[in-house]
Amino acid sequence: MRRKLVIANRKMYGSIPDNQAFLKGLLHETCALKNLDCAVCVPYPYLYQAQTMLAGSSIAWGAQNMSCHEYGPYTGSVSPSMLLEFGCEYVIIGHSERRRRGYESDNSAAERFEAAIKVGLKPVFCVGETLEEHKAGYAHQVTIRELSAVIDHVGVMGLAQGVLAYEPIWAIGTGKSASPEHAQTVLAFLRGHIASLDESVAENIRILYGGSVRTANAKELFAMPDIDGGLIGSASLNTSDFIPICRAANAID
Ligand code: 13P
Repeated sequence: MRRKLVIANRKMYGSIPDNQAFLKGLLHETCALKNLDCAVCVPYPYLYQAQTMLAGSSIAWGAQNMSCHEYGPYTGSVSPSMLLEFGCEYVIIGHSERRRRGYESDNSAAERFEAAIKVGLKPVFCVGETLEEHKAGYAHQVTIRELSAVIDHVGVMGLAQGVLAYEPIWAIGTGKSASPEHAQTVLAFLRGHIASLDESVAENIRILYGGSVRTANAKELFAMPDIDGGLIGSASLNTSDFIPICRAANAID
């Protein structure tokens, strides 16, 4: 049985006082949620704050990107082992907000995935189609292409060390979530593909849905058999939106 996982992707938001209020509220409210894993991915400058406040709690933390290099003349980059020094468990890899600005290709995202698992970080690997691809019925083709780049790099056993997130680009930040049925269809397809390579990996890997998850739709989404939780953007900016989503995930058997 896969435990539900809800991850806050705080993107490029927050400030030291704002993070403090958010993390304090989260610590207070989620301690009673026993059926759930919860994590917060913050901008790099706030990793120390997350580490200081969350250490010893049940809430994990992580970053939103990293270099695939361990060290070197890469001005502005942050290495996998630097994230480990700040206690990160997770790192988001291949988010569409990076891919579509040209910062990431299928190959570079796969390289980052490989670098993350090499040091024991859990990559949260994002896949998803654009609106045009969605309208043309290409959701399966696009997501399988992105996923296959990782499997080609690290094999299905390497994939098993990460988490997948299906984030249709047209649903991100738009307020228009994918329907639970659409998300379920894509997730079942991805899981089926993984099962064709290794059934036990498919059975155990967690696949999240991301894209306009809100209090109002979280329960329906998380009730789908292949949706193992959420990667939450806008609704992770304050506890009043985020905590009900955590509660919804916690309430699913
Ligand atoms: P929203 O929840 O704001 O749509 O963002 C989703 C996302 O990009 C999470 O990574």
